[in-house]
Amino acid sequence: MNTKIREYILNQVTEHPGDVATLTANEFQVSRQTIVNYLTKLTNEGLITASGKTRARKYELVNFIDKEFFKLVVPELQEDVLWREDILPYVKDLNSNVLDICQYGFTEIIRNVFDHSESKNVEYSIKRNAICVNLSVSDSGVGIFNKIQKYFKLNDPRHALLELTKGKLTSDPQHHSGEGIFFTSRMFDRFMILSNPLHYTRLSEVHDWLVEVGESKQKGTMVTMEIPPYSQRTMQSVFDSYAPEKDSYGFTKTHVPIKLARYEGEQLVSRSQARRLLARFERFQEVLLDFEGVKTIGQSFADEIFRVYQLEHPEINIMWINETADVKKMIMRTIVNLETGVKKPDSVASQKD
Ligand SMILES: Nc1ncnc2c1ncn2[C@@H]1O[C@H](COP(=O)(O)OP(=O)(O)OP(=O)(O)O)[C@@H](O)[C@H]1O
Ligand SMILES: [Mg+2]
Repeated sequence: MNTKIREYILNQVTEHPGDVATLTANEFQVSRQTIVNYLTKLTNEGLITASGKTRARKYELVNFIDKEFFKLVVPELQEDVLWREDILPYVKDLNSNVLDICQYGFTEIIRNVFDHSESKNVEYSIKRNAICVNLSVSDSGVGIFNKIQKYFKLNDPRHALLELTKGKLTSDPQHHSGEGIFFTSRMFDRFMILSNPLHYTRLSEVHDWLVEVGESKQKGTMVTMEIPPYSQRTMQSVFDSYAPEKDSYGFTKTHVPIKLARYEGEQLVSRSQARRLLARFERFQEVLLDFEGVKTIGQSFADEIFRVYQLEHPEINIMWINETADVKKMIMRTIVNLETGVKKPDSVASQKD
């Protein structure tokens, strides 16, 4: 069996349950019957199931592991024990890099429930199919966005989400450093938080991240993490990307999706919006501003970040990616203004250039 064809079928079947055979046959220029043979073999292996007859036949991935757990939160509960006893038996066969990521993510998110949620119980699950390992943890506590909003006295939960994505955010600085969600969300290919009133998704694309925000009525907090079983990513590579130099330890860089600073129907124009974005940047040596999904920015917004703030904080290296031509024009204008001003920080440079 051609592994490319197998992988293609497994990756496409969820979106194309009824026409995966035709789609694959076209893609690989082979007969439909050849693909039907593949589908039969994958069905026999228990990786997909078929329902319906002939033309109406539909295929779907099988969750060959689907386990759920429920525990009352008591002080004796330890996240590493839950990992070893409940989850590890179902993931032991994975490559060690993926196993390490699953362990890190699961134990960090469970620990958060114990330490931050005020929930009396916790539910978690492990699901696996041919292309995905899915770990999910939910509690019925105070809710992550509400907790952050309240603790940091922010105006609304969206602002709480913006702060959370920057990293180094904790409501318990005596015991925590605010790293768990930042790193976990970058180790998995898909990371989701549902907690009233927001639904936050971070997706790993080929060279990039995609961030989406929607609404949710979820009580408490639900975190879902997904990674392909054959992922090549390592935990160390993720830590290294946010450390000062390769192979050194530390969390000195952050990557901020600018679109989270923008509210429904708004443009990024004002100095106060920029100030909201800039809060706590001084905890990092390097800040990568990601303009994905932002078409344009206003002059004051750009000026506040790239001139005013940069002059106040010359030690912080502010970089940017995914900017449109309009955004770039705005940024360059403020930097040109800098040249006529007191000082042009050498550190301001576009990553793409
Ligand atoms: N399940 C939860 N319920 C309520 N609030 C939460 C939950 N999980 C996280 N939080 C909030 O989000 C903040 C950030 O969590 P994160 O795991 O990134 O950092 P931390 O737990 O504070 O520190 P670290 O993970 O480095 O020990 C927490 O400080 C807490 O305010
Ligand atoms: Mg944590």
